[in-house]
Amino acid sequence: MKRNRNAICIALAALCMSAQAPALANSALASKYGCLGCHAAAAQLVGPSYQDVAAKYSDDKGAMEMLMKSIRNGGTGKWGEMAMPPQAKLPEADLKRLATWILGGAK
Ligand code: HEC
Repeated sequence: MKRNRNAICIALAALCMSAQAPALANSALASKYGCLGCHAAAAQLVGPSYQDVAAKYSDDKGAMEMLMKSIRNGGTGKWGEMAMPPQAKLPEADLKRLATWILGGAK
């Protein structure tokens, strides 16, 4: 019995630590807003991969502003025929974090 309890404690501790790991935070945010239903870091799904987005705008100084706008307003025609729906409910702070993360290659 005592042994079982120890195993549960270890499992819980591992769970808490993984939930707090900073590396998960940005993709968890993208998942929370449904971005990952259409985007992946390295593969094209409905929308372009975030690494392709980062590569396309890597020399563009205004990329951050522009991406925040295109995430908020959605759009079509830049990457293909598919449209991205507007994300009007995304809070400014989260929008900025997502745009920064995507421009950094979604690592
Ligand atoms: C229903 C599918 C869908 C969802 C959900 C979605 N996207 Fe997109 N996204 C697309 C498509 C399709 C495009 C390509 C639009 C185009 O060709 O202009 C795109 C384009 C983009 C671009 C590139 C914009 C540009 O100006 O080049 C970024 C960045 C992006 N999405 C981020 C996000 C983020 C962040 C979220 C979540 C808040 C999200 N997307 C949710 C489908 C989606």
